[in-house]
Amino acid sequence: MLHPLLENAEQLLLNATEQCSSITTLDALENFRIQFLGRKGHLITLSETFNALPTEEKKIVGSRFQEIKKALENLHANKKKSLESIKPENKNHIDFSEIEAQKNHPGKLHAYTQVIERIENIFIPMGYTKFEGPEVEDEFHNFDALNVPTNHPARDMHDTLWVNNTKQLLRTHTSSVQIRALEEHGIPIAGFAPGRVFRHEAVDATHDIMFMQCEGIFIDKGINLSNLLGTAKHFLSSFFETKDLDIRIRPGFFPFVEPGLEIDMRCVFCKTGCSVCKKTTWIEVFPCGMIHPNVLKACNIDPEIYSGFAFGFGLSRIVMLYHGIDDIRHLSTGKIGFLKQF
Ligand code: DAH
Repeated sequence: MLHPLLENAEQLLLNATEQCSSITTLDALENFRIQFLGRKGHLITLSETFNALPTEEKKIVGSRFQEIKKALENLHANKKKSLESIKPENKNHIDFSEIEAQKNHPGKLHAYTQVIERIENIFIPMGYTKFEGPEVEDEFHNFDALNVPTNHPARDMHDTLWVNNTKQLLRTHTSSVQIRALEEHGIPIAGFAPGRVFRHEAVDATHDIMFMQCEGIFIDKGINLSNLLGTAKHFLSSFFETKDLDIRIRPGFFPFVEPGLEIDMRCVFCKTGCSVCKKTTWIEVFPCGMIHPNVLKACNIDPEIYSGFAFGFGLSRIVMLYHGIDDIRHLSTGKIGFLKQF
């Protein structure tokens, strides 16, 4: 028969093992320690009973009693170790400020999109509406309505890309959107239309088969050349953020305007001539003019009552000027290294 002291001790170990197994916090473990191993705990009470035993009995139960005592202490020590290993504040201290943050590469707007937003921020407050038109156009909108009749040499100025023997073409300029906007919205009208255009060009640093233009149109009663010049100056000085904009105006020929003008701006890169301005200190930026009466007639607008101006500048060109890009082809390659810069 088991000695009553050992019987109690074995029972105590059993209870302790069971209780200890369900402990999940250091606080609960401390209560466990006080209950079983503390100064007034169960183990002390048993030890006192043991100490009071006659020497003979001590010899019989002593070694097992010591084992149980040790097992109880180990129970506590092992649990403590395992709980501490999962408590973050007891882990090695980590200084997060020394850890290099993982680099984040968020997407960006394309240089074109950013410049279009700048243009919108200039024209929309002036009351202009943004228009769009199809990139695959017909001859009427791209040429006929713009006073460029069939066989007129002006058609050769644009090396047109035709769509597989159809009468459809890839629009050669955004001027076609003037006609689309007039058909849809009528007059009075103030609008601008950034968009892609296509020409069968030999590709080099300044020519691409696809590039972007931005068209503008303003028609109402009594619109004259000074309205056009004021608009051009406001646009150029806002876009290039210059207070003392220096421009010059030359005659230019475009079948859809009369008179047609070329507005040049002082080179933004140099004072004495550079490769961008071809050593002239002037850069061509703003072709424009007063809308030809034939264009108004083609859109059923009476040129005796209404007049207006139009412009159609190279959006690719001003993106290149604005960002100092030396090769137009970069703008359509989609190379991350290039695009990241803007
Ligand atoms: N469409 C012309 C081109 O592609 C540019 C242009 C010139 C547009 C004068 C206009 C304008 O609206 O008035 O070369």
